[in-house]
Amino acid sequence: MTESIAVGTDGSAAATAALEWAVDDAVRRGVSLRIVHAMDRWPHDLVEFPAPARPGRLACFGEQVLTEAAKAATERRPDVRVTTELIEGTPSDVLCGQAETAIELVVGNRGLGGFAGSLLGSVPVRLAGHVRGAVVVVRQGRAEAYGEVVVGVDGSAECEPALGFAFEQAALRGCGLRAVYAWQMPHAFSPEAAEDTEEIRYAQRRMAEERLAGWQERFPAVEVVSEVTRARPVPTLLAASARADLLVVGSRGLGAVGSVLLGSVSREVLHHARGPVAVVRSTRSTGRGPRASSG
Ligand SMILES: Nc1ncnc2c1ncn2[C@@H]1O[C@H](COP(=O)(O)OP(=O)(O)OP(=O)(O)O)[C@@H](O)[C@H]1O
Ligand SMILES: [Mg+2]
Repeated sequence: MTESIAVGTDGSAAATAALEWAVDDAVRRGVSLRIVHAMDRWPHDLVEFPAPARPGRLACFGEQVLTEAAKAATERRPDVRVTTELIEGTPSDVLCGQAETAIELVVGNRGLGGFAGSLLGSVPVRLAGHVRGAVVVVRQGRAEAYGEVVVGVDGSAECEPALGFAFEQAALRGCGLRAVYAWQMPHAFSPEAAEDTEEIRYAQRRMAEERLAGWQERFPAVEVVSEVTRARPVPTLLAASARADLLVVGSRGLGAVGSVLLGSVSREVLHHARGPVAVVRSTRSTGRGPRASSG
C-alpha cells in the first residue's frame, strides 16, 4: 500500500486549514493525501425524524465537500497526489479507522458545529490520545514562518514517540528543534533542603539530555536547543509554541493515571495553542525508543 496522510474535512474553515497543513506535509514527505469526509447519519436515524431523502442529500453534501477540498489541495500544490473517501459513520469513528493506515491524521480544531467561541470540537478531543501515531490539530489563520518545531519532553517513556515525530518534522522542514522540559517540585518538597534543589535541577537536565541523545544521533542534521526550566508545563509550552510552526506533545506523561489516554498537559495545550499541535501516541502498547543509527 502506498503511504498516505489522512485529513478529515467537514468543509469548515478550520478543516480547510487542516487540509492546507496536510497538503504541505504530503509534499514534504513525498506521500499521497487521503481526504476523508464522514457522513454522519445519526440525527436522521432518530425515530422522530425518519427522512428517506436525507442520506442522499448527505452524500451529495459529502461529495461536494470532497470535490472542493481536492480542488483546493491541487491548487495549493499541483504536485500533490490526492484521493478522496466518503464513508458513512460518526466522524471520530471513521477518522480513527482511517488513521490505522495513515502516516498521520490531520483535523481542524473545530468544525461546522460547536458554538461561536468554541476552541476545540469533539472530534479532535476524541481522536487525540486514542489514535496510535500522530494526530495533528490545525487552527485557522496562522501562517508558518518561524522556522522552529517545539517538542514537550518529560521523564516518561510516553514522550519518546513525540520526540521521534518532532525530530522527523524538523528534519523534513530543515529547521531547528526546541525541546522544552518544564519540571516542578513535588508538592511535599520542603523548601529548607536547598541543596536538594540543585541536585534535582541537575538530574532533570541530565534526564532531558539523555532522552534527546538517541534521537539526535539518528537525526544529526537537526539543530536542537534544549530548554530545561523549573516552571509549569502548560504556560511554558504555550509560550514556546507562540514562536513555533508546530508544537509536538505526547498523548500522556508522567502524571497521567492508569486509564487516562490524554494527559492534562496535552489536553490544555490542545485547547489553548495558537498554532498546529501534534499529539503523538505510541504505535505500540509500550514507549518506542530510537533505533540505533547504524541499523
Ligand atoms: N463529518 C466529518 N468528516 C470528516 N472530518 C470531520 C467531520 N466533522 C469534523 N471533522 C474534522 O474534525 C475537525 C473538528 O470538527 P468538530 O466536529 O470536532 O468540531 P465542531 O463541529 O466545531 O464541534 P462539534 O463537536 O459540535 O461537532 C474538523 O475541522 C474536521 O477536520
Ligand atoms: Mg462537528
